Amino acid sequence: MNFTEAYEKRKTEFEGYLKQFVSELITFPKELLDAVAYSLLSGGKRLRPVLLLEAVRMFGGQADACAVNFALAVECIHTYSLIHDDLPCMDNDDYRRGQLTCHKKFGEANAVLAGDALLNIAYELIFGAVRLGNNEARYVRAGSALAAAAGGNGMVGGQVCDLLPDAGVDALQYIYEKKTAALIGAALRAGALIGGAREEDLQKIDAFGKLFGFCFQLRDDLLDKDTEDVGKNTYLHAFGQQKTAAALKEKTVAAIELLQNMENAAFLVELTSAFMARDI
Ligand code: IPE
Ligand code: IPE
Ligand code: MG
Repeated sequence: MNFTEAYEKRKTEFEGYLKQFVSELITFPKELLDAVAYSLLSGGKRLRPVLLLEAVRMFGGQADACAVNFALAVECIHTYSLIHDDLPCMDNDDYRRGQLTCHKKFGEANAVLAGDALLNIAYELIFGAVRLGNNEARYVRAGSALAAAAGGNGMVGGQVCDLLPDAGVDALQYIYEKKTAALIGAALRAGALIGGAREEDLQKIDAFGKLFGFCFQLRDDLLDKDTEDVGKNTYLHAFGQQKTAAALKEKTVAAIELLQNMENAAFLVELTSAFMARDI
C-alpha cells in the first residue's frame, strides 16, 4: 500500500465514525441538524483527526473509542471554525470545498448556531472520553490542550488578527501560528498525550506541529492564490509566489528533520512530504 492509499484508508475509517456520530444527532432541531450534518459530511481532508490518531499510535496507544472521541472533537472544532470563517462578517465566502457555504445554504443565523453547536459537541465528546475511559488524567490533559488551542490564545486569537485591516507583515507569523498551526499542533499533542508520550516527546511533537501547521497555511495560500481576496494579509500577497514556495520548501525540510529524531515517525514523514507537495 502506498502512502496515498494508506492516508485514504485512515480517512475513510474516520469518516465511518463521523457518519455514525452524525446519525446520533437526530434529536437536534431539523434546521440545526441539516446545517451541522451538511458541514461535517461535505468532504475535507480530515487531516486533524488523522494526525491525532496517528500520534496516539506513535506513542504506544490504541485508536480505541476514547481516542476516536477526540478525533471527532477536533474535526468538530475545525468544522465550526470553517463555518464561521466563511460568514459575511469574516471572509464572506460563498463556496467551500466546491459547495455552497453553510450560511449560503441555511442562512446566517443557522450557520452561526451550527458553529456554536459543533464547538459544544466537541466538549461533550471530550467529557464522554473522560467519563467512559480508564485514563482520566491523560484525557483531561488532551482536552485542555485542544481547548487552549481553539480559544483566544490560539485559533480565535489568530482569526481576530487575520481580520485586522492594518496588521501588516510583522503579524503574519503570529496569525499563521495561531489561526492554523495551533489546532493542528494540538491535535498532535492531544494524540501524543492519549498515547502516553513522555515530556521530552511532547516537546518534540509540539515543535513539529508548529512548523507543520505554518507550512500548511503557506500551502493553503498557494492553493487559494487565484480565489483569495487580494486585500487579505497573507504571506503570498506580501512576498509573492516564488518566495512563498521557497519558504514552504525550506520549512517543510525543517519539519521533516524534526521527525528524524523521533521513533515511529515514518507515516508523519510521508504525510508531511505529501501534503506540502499537494498530493492530498
Ligand atoms: C482549511 O483547512 C483552513 C485552514 C486552516 C487552512 P483544511 O485544508 O484542513 O480544510 P478541509 O477540512 O480539508 O476542507
Ligand atoms: C482559515 O484560514 C483558518 C480558520 C478557519 C481558523 P483561511 O481563511 O486562510 O482558510 P480558507 O482559505 O478559508 O480555507
Ligand atoms: Mg477563509
